[in-house]
Amino acid sequence: MNSEYLFAHKHILGLDHLSVPDIEHILTTAESFKEISARTIKKVPVLRGKTVVTLFFEPSTRTRLSFDIAAKRMSADTFSISASTSSTTKGETLADTARNIEAMMPDVIIMRHPSSGAPHYLARHIKTSVINAGDGTHEHPSQGLLDLMTVKEHKGNISGLKVAIIGDISHSRVAHSDIIGFAKMGAHVFVSGPATLIPKKIEKLGATVCSSIEEAVTNADVVMPLRIQKERQNDPLIPSFREYATFFGINRQVLQAAKADALLMHPGPINRGVELAPDVADSPQSVILDQVTNGVAIRMALIYLVLGGK
Ligand code: CP
Repeated sequence: MNSEYLFAHKHILGLDHLSVPDIEHILTTAESFKEISARTIKKVPVLRGKTVVTLFFEPSTRTRLSFDIAAKRMSADTFSISASTSSTTKGETLADTARNIEAMMPDVIIMRHPSSGAPHYLARHIKTSVINAGDGTHEHPSQGLLDLMTVKEHKGNISGLKVAIIGDISHSRVAHSDIIGFAKMGAHVFVSGPATLIPKKIEKLGATVCSSIEEAVTNADVVMPLRIQKERQNDPLIPSFREYATFFGINRQVLQAAKADALLMHPGPINRGVELAPDVADSPQSVILDQVTNGVAIRMALIYLVLGGK
């Protein structure tokens, strides 16, 4: 870890706001924290006396648990509120909920919300550090960073790699953070999927839109299928899951067009047999569970850095 580097961000709202040196510093910090999770006693005192609140208005397995584990591994006290247990169900506004949480003096609020921009709104209303754990279809910065860490760990570098992201790009905050992050770090990002699920201006984030899945996957170093985000689609945008699996599902035959040592990634949760064939999900090429392991280290680094760690 470069202890001289000045990480100047109080909030982590998206990869859009982070510079290449910021991202490199987060990755280096996470790499140095990773071994703590392999110890017999998985705890260091670095954030003793700090309070971390997770405020999740959408379901989550990986992100919520790994932020919670990350904070506890650094000896912070953690508290969780979910949509169903918060007073927003009684009509309280998000800003009032946040101000009331702030009045109890937490040091970091980690929020997932179905509305794009909700963590940015929160950051404008309170003085506490805010970490975006996924906002609507906008960004999922900690997922983008753990994906970068996983690729760097396996490939040694990110610059120059071909990254293929396949599927529901429009509704995927992971796709948006990954495109921004991989492009910033010098990778070539290609996207493919049903035309109804590719946003018109995605090139502006740094992705090349391919006319076929074969074009995206051929000679790729990383192949990442995405779940169809039905919960964010008002009208059906694909005829059926079966048809989607036939034309855009990643199976062994499709993956053969990628490089022999290509990494198969997925942010989870997987819909097995839809965007990803089960035997490929469980194959030696799959680094899906490495992504989850690295998620704890990245989230340790983010909490540590927004609290002034150097
Ligand atoms: N990748 C991800 O955000 O997973 P969860 O929805 O389970 O947190």
